Amino acid sequence: MNLKQLKSNFTKTLSELYPSEEIQSFFNWLAEHYLGYSRFEVSIKGEEEISEVVEAKFSEALQRLQNHEPIQYILGETEFYGLPFKVTPDTLIPRPETEELVEWIVLDSQEIQETPLKPHASHLTPDTFLDVGTGTGCIAISLAKHIKEAKVSAIDISAAALKIASENATMNEVTVNFIHADILKTTTLSQHYDVMVSNPPYVRALEKEHMQPNVLQHEPEAALFVSNEDPLLFYRTIATLAKTHLTPNGALYFEINEYLSEEMQIMLSDEGFDEIELKKDVFGKYRMLKCRRKSP
Ligand SMILES: C[S@@+](CC[C@H](N)C(=O)[O-])C[C@H]1O[C@@H](n2cnc3c(N)ncnc32)[C@H](O)[C@@H]1O
Repeated sequence: MNLKQLKSNFTKTLSELYPSEEIQSFFNWLAEHYLGYSRFEVSIKGEEEISEVVEAKFSEALQRLQNHEPIQYILGETEFYGLPFKVTPDTLIPRPETEELVEWIVLDSQEIQETPLKPHASHLTPDTFLDVGTGTGCIAISLAKHIKEAKVSAIDISAAALKIASENATMNEVTVNFIHADILKTTTLSQHYDVMVSNPPYVRALEKEHMQPNVLQHEPEAALFVSNEDPLLFYRTIATLAKTHLTPNGALYFEINEYLSEEMQIMLSDEGFDEIELKKDVFGKYRMLKCRRKSP
C-alpha cells in the first residue's frame, strides 16, 4: 500500500465520525509521528510504499480514533505553551484556555520584575508558586520554565498523574516540587506562596450532555467533574487555604467555569478577597480569574 492509498482509506473510515479538517489533522499528526513527515512531505510522497510496520501502527490508531479516543492519548504527547508534554489516560489533556491562564501569570510576573517606576519591585517579584491539581504538570512546568528564579510546587491527588508530571518536568529541564495530597483534606501547607493557581475540577454533572464522547469516555472523571449541588467546592477550599498561605502581596489565579463567574466573584469576596478580576478567553468567555487577599 502507498501513502496515498493509506490516507484515502483512513479518511473514508473516519468520514462519518469527524469533520474532514479534523481527519486531515489526525493524519498529518500521525504521519509526522510514525514517518517523520511534514504536511508538505505527505502531500508530495503519495506514491511511496508504506512498510507493514507503519501500516499496522496507522491501523491501530484508526481503530482507537473510531473508538473516540483523543489523538493526544494515541500519540502519547501534546504541546502546551510551546513545550512538549507526555499525556496518558491518567492525565487531563491540557487545554488552550489554560495556556491563556499561564500567559496571564507570566506577563504579570514580568511586569512586576520589569517596571522601572517600581523601585522596590524586586521584593514584590513573585518567586514561590503553588499549582493545585497539576495533572500533566502543564501549569507548574510552564511557570518554572518561563519565570526567572521561580520555585514551583504542585499538588495532585493522583499518584499516576504525578508520575507523568514528574517525567514532564525532567523532559522540560525544570525542577518542580510535586506533592501527593488531597486538597479537600488539606488544612495547612508547609510554606507560604506568592502565587497560588488552580485549574480544578469544575464541570457540573448537568453539563455532561453537552460534552463530546472523546472527553466523556476517555479523560479522567476525577479531573473534570464536581457535583451539581456544590460546584465551587474546590475553589472555596483553595481560597480558604490561600487566605492563610499567600504572602502579603500574593495573588490567587483560577481557571473557571464560564457559567459560574458571578458565583465565583461572590464566593471570593465573602472569603475575604478583593481586586477580583475576570478575564475572557479568545472566544470572549470569562474563563480566568485573579484576586488578592484583602489587606487586614
Ligand atoms: C481540570 S484537571 C487540571 C489538570 C492540569 N492542571 C491542567 O490544567 O491541564 C484537575 C486536576 O485536579 C486533580 N484533583 C482532583 N481532585 C483532587 C483533590 N481532591 N486534590 C488534589 N488534586 C485533585 C485531578 O487529578 C486533575 O489532575
